[in-house]
Amino acid sequence: MERFKKHIFVCTNERPAGHQRGCCHDHGGTEIRLNFAEGLAKRGLKSEVMANKSGCLDACELGPAVAIYPAGLWYIGVSPDDVDEIIETSIVGDGVVERLAAREADWLRLQSLRKK
Ligand code: FES
Repeated sequence: MERFKKHIFVCTNERPAGHQRGCCHDHGGTEIRLNFAEGLAKRGLKSEVMANKSGCLDACELGPAVAIYPAGLWYIGVSPDDVDEIIETSIVGDGVVERLAAREADWLRLQSLRKK
């Protein structure tokens, strides 16, 4: 029996000020995680879906980053205001918020940024 139907990982990693990769904490990661927790509770989904704080998901320059499993769906550049839309689309439903979904080009851009 599966423990949760869906699992949301929200990067809340914090780095020292001025770090070259930045961090999701400085761009709303903690508020995003809280909004997921509240949004799941409000919809009665807490027993079916877990939203965890995560350490660095290795998408720092594109963050805040959110990963949803088992779909393997990654969202980047998420803001706290996006959370309700993500819950309705990808947690209640099985769709994708296209404007936030990470694409192959995003991962290539990340690689490029790190080569500099
Ligand atoms: S600090 Fe959030 S992905 Fe690395």
